[in-house]
Amino acid sequence: VNANYLLVLVALCACQSKSASPAPNVSVSAIPTPSRPPSAADALDELDGRREVPLLPMMAHHQKQSMRDHLVVVQEVVAALGASDFVKVAESAKRIGYSETMGRMCQHMGAGAPGFTEQALAFHRTADSIVHAAAERDSAAVLTALSSTLAACTTCHASYKQKLVDTLP
Ligand code: HEC
Repeated sequence: VNANYLLVLVALCACQSKSASPAPNVSVSAIPTPSRPPSAADALDELDGRREVPLLPMMAHHQKQSMRDHLVVVQEVVAALGASDFVKVAESAKRIGYSETMGRMCQHMGAGAPGFTEQALAFHRTADSIVHAAAERDSAAVLTALSSTLAACTTCHASYKQKLVDTLP
């Protein structure tokens, strides 16, 4: 047997035995520690001290969709008022006005956040006053009512934030 061939065999065996039994400390250090490091979401939570509204993902999504439509309503009301189209002002404002369906939804969304539902209901009532002012064809009154409605938006936003949960408390 050729000496070079033997050398190659020895080298191959050495390599194989090395890769077959990894150093034990490598795998141990690769196991993640039980307490997970803080995530970006945790960091945001720390910075944002508002009260939490616990919501399932579906509810949170629905709430945000509804919020974006609230803003569309405000835009429509302002545009219609600029055109003195009071029928359109009333029609748009009714989308954020109080109704039993709306009331039930606010109850549902705010079930885990004390005070939230009350603020939400008061908000929808202020939107009703936009509808009343539009019926009177009173621009100044529409603006005053819109201002109260916007104050209800901003007050709630200053107090509450969504908190995603897997199960409701
Ligand atoms: C009773 C409470 C409440 C009222 C009233 C309210 N909102 Fe909100 N809104 C929220 C909460 C809670 C969020 C989620 C905020 C967060 O987690 O940062 C939100 C988020 C939003 C968002 C962001 C949506 C997105 O896609 O992320 C918009 C836009 C918005 N609201 C518009 C409005 C407008 C306009 C009004 C009034 C006409 C209004 N909201 C009234 C509670 C309220």
